[in-house]
Amino acid sequence: MEVLVTGGAGYVGSVVAEELLKEGFGVIVLDNLQEGHHDAVPEGAEFMVADITVRQELEKVFAQNRIDAVMHMAAETVVPVSMTDTTRHFRCNVVGGLNLLDAMLEHDVRRLIFSSSAAVYGEPQADEIGEDHPKVPLNPYGETKLIFERILEWYGRAYQLKFICLRYFNAAGASRRLGEDHQPETHLIPNVLRAALDRSAPVTLFGTDYPTRDGSCVRDYVHVIDIARAHILALKRLEDRSGRAYNLGSGGGHSVIEVVEVARQVTGVDIPAKVSARRPGDPAVLVASSALARQELGWKPEYEGLEGIVSSSWRWMKEHPRGYSR
Ligand code: UFG
Repeated sequence: MEVLVTGGAGYVGSVVAEELLKEGFGVIVLDNLQEGHHDAVPEGAEFMVADITVRQELEKVFAQNRIDAVMHMAAETVVPVSMTDTTRHFRCNVVGGLNLLDAMLEHDVRRLIFSSSAAVYGEPQADEIGEDHPKVPLNPYGETKLIFERILEWYGRAYQLKFICLRYFNAAGASRRLGEDHQPETHLIPNVLRAALDRSAPVTLFGTDYPTRDGSCVRDYVHVIDIARAHILALKRLEDRSGRAYNLGSGGGHSVIEVVEVARQVTGVDIPAKVSARRPGDPAVLVASSALARQELGWKPEYEGLEGIVSSSWRWMKEHPRGYSR
Protein backbone atom coordinates (compact mmCIF):
# COMPACT_ATOMS: atom_id res chain seq x y z
CA MET A 1 0.00 0.00 0.00
CA GLU A 2 1.31 3.47 -0.95
CA VAL A 3 0.85 6.15 1.70
CA LEU A 4 1.22 9.90 1.16
CA VAL A 5 2.58 11.60 4.30
CA THR A 6 1.96 15.35 4.18
CA GLY A 7 4.40 17.21 6.41
CA GLY A 8 6.64 14.15 6.24
CA ALA A 9 9.83 16.20 6.63
CA GLY A 10 8.60 17.58 9.95
CA TYR A 11 9.00 16.24 13.46
CA VAL A 12 6.05 13.84 13.76
CA GLY A 13 5.61 13.30 10.01
CA SER A 14 9.16 12.08 9.47
CA VAL A 15 8.82 9.49 12.24
CA VAL A 16 5.46 8.38 10.81
CA ALA A 17 7.16 7.94 7.42
CA GLU A 18 10.00 6.00 9.05
CA GLU A 19 7.62 3.62 10.85
CA LEU A 20 5.53 3.10 7.69
CA LEU A 21 8.65 2.11 5.75
CA LYS A 22 9.66 -0.31 8.53
CA GLU A 23 6.24 -1.94 8.21
CA GLY A 24 6.65 -2.39 4.47
CA PHE A 25 4.42 0.43 3.20
CA GLY A 26 5.46 2.51 0.22
CA VAL A 27 5.86 6.16 1.30
CA ILE A 28 5.59 9.43 -0.57
CA VAL A 29 6.54 12.46 1.51
CA LEU A 30 5.08 15.85 0.66
CA ASP A 31 6.51 18.89 2.45
CA ASN A 32 7.05 22.56 1.61
CA LEU A 33 10.23 22.62 3.76
CA GLN A 34 9.04 25.75 5.54
CA GLU A 35 9.48 23.99 8.90
CA GLY A 36 10.52 20.56 7.68
CA HIS A 37 14.06 19.39 6.92
CA HIS A 38 15.24 17.62 3.79
CA ASP A 39 17.51 15.47 5.97
CA ALA A 40 14.53 14.27 8.00
CA VAL A 41 12.94 12.51 5.03
CA PRO A 42 13.67 8.83 5.62
CA GLU A 43 15.66 6.90 3.06
CA GLY A 44 13.34 4.86 0.88
CA ALA A 45 10.60 7.49 0.77
CA GLU A 46 9.78 9.31 -2.45
CA PHE A 47 10.08 13.04 -1.67
CA MET A 48 8.14 15.85 -3.34
CA VAL A 49 8.45 19.50 -2.35
CA ALA A 50 4.92 20.87 -2.51
CA ASP A 51 2.67 23.23 -0.61
CA ILE A 52 -0.85 22.14 0.31
CA THR A 53 -2.10 25.72 -0.04
CA VAL A 54 -1.22 25.61 -3.74
CA ARG A 55 -3.74 23.37 -5.49
CA GLN A 56 -1.58 22.80 -8.62
CA GLU A 57 1.33 21.56 -6.51
CA LEU A 58 -0.94 18.99 -4.87
CA GLU A 59 -2.31 18.01 -8.24
CA LYS A 60 1.22 17.21 -9.41
CA VAL A 61 1.82 14.92 -6.41
CA PHE A 62 -1.41 12.99 -7.01
CA ALA A 63 -0.95 12.84 -10.78
CA GLN A 64 2.59 11.47 -10.52
CA ASN A 65 2.10 8.85 -7.81
CA ARG A 66 -0.15 5.96 -7.00
CA ILE A 67 -1.61 6.85 -3.59
CA ASP A 68 -3.84 4.51 -1.58
CA ALA A 69 -4.08 6.47 1.68
CA VAL A 70 -3.00 9.79 3.17
CA MET A 71 -1.59 10.66 6.59
CA HIS A 72 -2.05 14.40 6.96
CA MET A 73 0.43 16.18 9.19
CA ALA A 74 1.28 19.27 7.14
CA ALA A 75 0.16 22.21 9.28
CA GLU A 76 1.00 25.42 11.03
CA THR A 77 1.51 24.23 14.61
CA VAL A 78 2.90 26.98 16.81
CA VAL A 79 0.13 28.09 19.17
CA PRO A 80 1.49 31.59 20.04
CA VAL A 81 1.99 32.32 16.33
CA SER A 82 -1.64 31.37 15.71
CA MET A 83 -2.70 34.17 18.07
CA THR A 84 -1.01 36.85 15.96
CA ASP A 85 -0.64 35.41 12.45
CA THR A 86 -4.14 33.94 12.55
CA THR A 87 -4.77 34.04 8.82
CA ARG A 88 -1.68 31.90 8.19
CA HIS A 89 -3.06 29.14 10.41
CA PHE A 90 -6.52 29.17 8.83
CA ARG A 91 -5.07 29.29 5.33
CA CYS A 92 -2.74 26.35 5.85
CA ASN A 93 -4.75 24.17 8.21
CA VAL A 94 -8.23 24.74 6.78
CA VAL A 95 -7.80 25.92 3.16
CA GLY A 96 -4.75 23.67 2.64
CA GLY A 97 -6.65 20.77 4.18
CA LEU A 98 -9.60 21.34 1.83
CA ASN A 99 -7.24 21.43 -1.15
CA LEU A 100 -5.88 18.09 -0.02
CA LEU A 101 -9.35 16.56 0.34
CA ASP A 102 -10.40 17.81 -3.08
CA ALA A 103 -7.23 16.41 -4.69
CA MET A 104 -7.84 13.10 -2.91
CA LEU A 105 -11.41 12.84 -4.15
CA GLU A 106 -10.46 13.80 -7.67
CA HIS A 107 -7.97 10.94 -7.70
CA ASP A 108 -10.36 8.57 -5.91
CA VAL A 109 -8.26 8.37 -2.71
CA ARG A 110 -10.67 7.88 0.19
CA ARG A 111 -8.54 6.92 3.18
CA LEU A 112 -7.14 9.54 5.57
CA ILE A 113 -5.53 9.64 9.00
CA PHE A 114 -5.60 13.20 10.36
CA SER A 115 -3.14 14.69 12.82
CA SER A 116 -5.36 16.55 15.28
CA SER A 117 -4.51 17.94 18.68
CA ALA A 118 -5.39 18.20 22.35
CA ALA A 119 -5.79 21.90 21.53
CA VAL A 120 -9.34 21.13 20.27
CA TYR A 121 -10.51 20.78 23.89
CA GLY A 122 -9.48 24.13 25.37
CA GLU A 123 -9.56 24.58 29.13
CA PRO A 124 -9.84 21.10 30.73
CA GLN A 125 -12.92 20.44 32.82
CA ALA A 126 -11.76 17.04 34.09
CA ASP A 127 -8.55 15.51 35.46
CA GLU A 128 -8.32 13.23 32.47
CA ILE A 129 -9.68 14.34 29.12
CA GLY A 130 -11.75 11.81 27.20
CA GLU A 131 -12.77 12.22 23.57
CA ASP A 132 -16.26 13.42 24.53
CA HIS A 133 -14.89 16.34 26.60
CA PRO A 134 -16.34 19.72 25.44
CA LYS A 135 -14.41 21.25 22.60
CA VAL A 136 -13.85 24.97 23.09
CA PRO A 137 -10.43 25.82 21.63
CA LEU A 138 -8.49 28.62 23.34
CA ASN A 139 -6.52 29.59 20.27
CA PRO A 140 -6.84 29.69 16.46
CA TYR A 141 -4.54 26.67 16.13
CA GLY A 142 -6.96 24.47 18.09
CA GLU A 143 -9.90 25.98 16.22
CA THR A 144 -8.38 25.05 12.84
CA LYS A 145 -7.92 21.44 13.98
CA LEU A 146 -11.51 21.27 15.22
CA ILE A 147 -12.89 22.83 12.04
CA PHE A 148 -11.01 20.31 9.95
CA GLU A 149 -12.31 17.42 12.05
CA ARG A 150 -15.84 18.70 11.36
CA ILE A 151 -15.13 19.06 7.65
CA LEU A 152 -14.00 15.43 7.65
CA GLU A 153 -17.28 14.34 9.24
CA TRP A 154 -19.26 15.96 6.43
CA TYR A 155 -16.91 14.71 3.71
CA GLY A 156 -17.28 11.26 5.22
CA ARG A 157 -21.04 11.40 4.76
CA ALA A 158 -21.09 13.13 1.40
CA TYR A 159 -18.18 11.43 -0.34
CA GLN A 160 -17.66 8.15 1.56
CA LEU A 161 -14.28 9.37 2.78
CA LYS A 162 -12.90 7.05 5.45
CA PHE A 163 -10.96 8.89 8.13
CA ILE A 164 -9.69 8.75 11.71
CA CYS A 165 -8.56 11.79 13.75
CA LEU A 166 -5.69 11.34 16.21
CA ARG A 167 -5.54 14.02 18.90
CA TYR A 168 -1.96 14.21 20.10
CA PHE A 169 -1.14 15.48 23.56
CA ASN A 170 2.54 16.41 24.02
CA ALA A 171 4.58 14.68 21.33
CA ALA A 172 8.16 14.23 22.56
CA GLY A 173 11.27 12.09 22.19
CA ALA A 174 13.25 10.97 19.17
CA SER A 175 13.92 7.88 17.07
CA ARG A 176 17.54 6.81 16.37
CA ARG A 177 17.74 9.04 13.31
CA LEU A 178 14.96 11.59 13.69
CA GLY A 179 14.35 14.23 16.32
CA GLU A 180 12.84 17.59 17.15
CA ASP A 181 14.29 20.65 15.43
CA HIS A 182 11.99 23.68 15.33
CA GLN A 183 13.06 27.25 14.63
CA PRO A 184 12.42 28.87 17.01
CA GLU A 185 11.95 26.03 19.50
CA THR A 186 8.98 26.56 21.81
CA HIS A 187 8.64 23.06 23.30
CA LEU A 188 9.71 22.25 26.81
CA ILE A 189 11.86 19.11 26.48
CA PRO A 190 14.18 20.37 23.69
CA ASN A 191 14.51 23.70 25.50
CA VAL A 192 15.46 21.99 28.77
CA LEU A 193 18.01 19.80 26.98
CA ARG A 194 19.40 22.78 25.09
CA ALA A 195 20.17 24.34 28.48
CA ALA A 196 21.98 21.11 29.44
CA LEU A 197 24.11 21.38 26.33
CA ASP A 198 24.79 25.11 26.62
CA ARG A 199 24.90 25.78 30.33
CA SER A 200 25.27 29.54 29.91
CA ALA A 201 21.62 29.88 28.80
CA PRO A 202 19.09 28.76 31.44
CA VAL A 203 15.74 27.29 30.46
CA THR A 204 12.79 29.52 31.30
CA LEU A 205 10.00 27.98 33.39
CA PHE A 206 6.77 29.74 32.47
CA GLY A 207 4.94 30.09 35.77
CA THR A 208 5.23 28.29 39.09
CA ASP A 209 2.00 29.69 40.52
CA TYR A 210 -0.47 27.27 38.92
CA PRO A 211 -2.88 25.26 41.09
CA THR A 212 -0.83 22.07 40.62
CA ARG A 213 1.29 19.91 42.96
CA ASP A 214 4.43 22.05 42.53
CA GLY A 215 2.95 25.15 40.91
CA SER A 216 4.12 24.36 37.36
CA CYS A 217 1.99 23.16 34.43
CA VAL A 218 1.29 19.46 34.03
CA ARG A 219 1.35 17.81 30.57
CA ASP A 220 0.97 14.31 29.14
CA TYR A 221 4.14 13.51 27.19
CA VAL A 222 3.89 10.75 24.63
CA HIS A 223 6.75 9.35 22.57
CA VAL A 224 6.73 10.32 18.90
CA ILE A 225 7.34 6.67 17.89
CA ASP A 226 4.23 5.62 19.83
CA ILE A 227 2.30 8.37 18.05
CA ALA A 228 3.62 7.13 14.71
CA ARG A 229 2.56 3.55 15.48
CA ALA A 230 -0.93 4.73 16.35
CA HIS A 231 -1.21 6.08 12.79
CA ILE A 232 -0.44 2.67 11.34
CA LEU A 233 -2.90 0.94 13.66
CA ALA A 234 -5.53 3.51 12.69
CA LEU A 235 -4.91 2.89 9.00
CA LYS A 236 -5.32 -0.84 9.54
CA ARG A 237 -8.61 -0.30 11.40
CA LEU A 238 -10.02 2.31 9.04
CA GLU A 239 -12.71 0.04 7.63
CA ASP A 240 -14.46 -0.49 10.97
CA ARG A 241 -13.37 2.61 12.93
CA SER A 242 -13.86 5.33 10.33
CA GLY A 243 -15.22 8.61 11.69
CA ARG A 244 -13.66 8.15 15.12
CA ALA A 245 -11.27 10.47 17.00
CA TYR A 246 -8.74 9.12 19.49
CA ASN A 247 -6.61 10.81 22.12
CA LEU A 248 -2.93 9.91 22.12
CA GLY A 249 -1.29 10.44 25.48
CA SER A 250 0.46 8.14 27.88
CA GLY A 251 -2.17 8.73 30.55
CA GLY A 252 0.08 10.32 33.12
CA GLY A 253 0.95 13.91 33.80
CA HIS A 254 4.37 15.43 34.52
CA SER A 255 4.94 18.96 35.72
CA VAL A 256 7.44 21.32 34.11
CA ILE A 257 9.58 21.10 37.25
CA GLU A 258 9.47 17.28 37.13
CA VAL A 259 10.59 17.34 33.50
CA VAL A 260 13.59 19.48 34.47
CA GLU A 261 14.41 17.05 37.32
CA VAL A 262 14.22 13.99 35.04
CA ALA A 263 16.38 15.81 32.48
CA ARG A 264 18.95 16.56 35.18
CA GLN A 265 19.10 12.84 36.03
CA VAL A 266 19.27 11.72 32.41
CA THR A 267 21.97 14.22 31.38
CA GLY A 268 23.91 14.32 34.64
CA VAL A 269 23.96 18.11 34.24
CA ASP A 270 22.64 20.52 36.85
CA ILE A 271 20.52 22.26 34.20
CA PRO A 272 20.19 25.98 34.90
CA ALA A 273 16.59 27.20 35.07
CA LYS A 274 14.91 30.54 35.76
CA VAL A 275 11.28 31.21 36.57
CA SER A 276 9.33 33.77 34.59
CA ALA A 277 5.68 34.80 34.28
CA ARG A 278 3.03 32.45 32.89
CA ARG A 279 2.91 32.02 29.12
CA PRO A 280 -0.48 33.26 27.88
CA GLY A 281 -2.91 30.51 26.89
CA ASP A 282 -1.32 27.65 28.87
CA PRO A 283 -3.88 25.50 30.73
CA ALA A 284 -2.63 24.31 34.15
CA VAL A 285 -3.14 20.60 33.47
CA LEU A 286 -3.61 18.70 30.23
CA VAL A 287 -3.74 14.93 30.61
CA ALA A 288 -5.40 12.46 28.24
CA SER A 289 -7.47 9.42 28.78
CA SER A 290 -6.23 7.22 25.95
CA ALA A 291 -8.41 4.28 26.93
CA LEU A 292 -10.35 4.41 23.66
CA ALA A 293 -7.24 4.18 21.47
CA ARG A 294 -6.05 1.25 23.56
CA GLN A 295 -9.40 -0.53 23.33
CA GLU A 296 -10.38 0.17 19.76
CA LEU A 297 -7.03 0.44 17.97
CA GLY A 298 -5.10 -1.98 20.18
CA TRP A 299 -2.60 0.84 20.83
CA LYS A 300 -0.18 0.40 23.68
CA PRO A 301 2.49 3.05 24.16
CA GLU A 302 5.86 1.38 24.47
CA TYR A 303 7.62 4.35 26.09
CA GLU A 304 5.51 4.86 29.18
CA GLY A 305 8.05 6.62 31.36
CA LEU A 306 9.25 10.18 30.98
CA GLU A 307 12.86 9.03 31.44
CA GLY A 308 12.83 6.97 28.23
CA ILE A 309 11.35 9.88 26.30
CA VAL A 310 13.88 12.40 27.62
CA SER A 311 16.81 9.95 27.12
CA SER A 312 15.91 9.48 23.46
CA SER A 313 15.72 13.27 22.93
CA TRP A 314 19.05 13.74 24.71
CA ARG A 315 20.81 11.12 22.59
CA TRP A 316 19.49 12.78 19.42
CA MET A 317 20.44 16.26 20.57
CA LYS A 318 23.99 15.19 21.42
CA GLU A 319 24.33 13.66 17.95
CA HIS A 320 22.75 16.74 16.31
CA PRO A 321 23.84 19.67 18.51
CA ARG A 322 22.82 22.13 15.82
CA GLY A 323 19.78 20.23 14.57
CA TYR A 324 19.48 18.99 10.99
CA SER A 325 22.36 20.06 8.76
CA ARG A 326 22.91 23.48 10.23
N1 UFG B 1 7.37 25.54 28.95
C1 UFG B 1 8.31 26.16 29.74
N2 UFG B 1 9.46 26.58 29.15
C2 UFG B 1 9.73 26.41 27.82
C3 UFG B 1 8.75 25.76 27.02
C4 UFG B 1 7.58 25.36 27.62
O1 UFG B 1 8.10 26.34 30.94
O2 UFG B 1 10.80 26.82 27.35
C5 UFG B 1 6.15 25.04 29.58
C6 UFG B 1 4.88 25.61 28.94
O3 UFG B 1 4.55 26.83 29.52
C7 UFG B 1 3.89 24.48 29.24
C8 UFG B 1 4.75 23.21 29.21
O4 UFG B 1 6.08 23.65 29.38
O5 UFG B 1 3.38 24.64 30.50
C9 UFG B 1 4.65 22.46 27.90
O6 UFG B 1 4.86 23.39 26.84
P1 UFG B 1 5.11 22.95 25.32
O7 UFG B 1 5.27 24.20 24.53
O8 UFG B 1 6.20 21.93 25.26
O9 UFG B 1 3.76 22.20 24.93
P2 UFG B 1 2.26 22.72 25.00
O10 UFG B 1 1.60 21.90 26.06
O11 UFG B 1 2.14 24.18 25.10
O12 UFG B 1 1.76 22.38 23.54
C10 UFG B 1 1.34 21.12 23.14
C11 UFG B 1 1.62 20.93 21.66
C12 UFG B 1 0.77 21.88 20.85
C13 UFG B 1 -0.67 21.73 21.23
C14 UFG B 1 -0.85 21.94 22.72
C15 UFG B 1 -2.27 21.69 23.13
O13 UFG B 1 2.97 21.13 21.40
O14 UFG B 1 0.92 21.58 19.48
O15 UFG B 1 -0.03 21.02 23.43
O16 UFG B 1 -2.63 22.63 24.10
F1 UFG B 1 -1.44 22.64 20.59
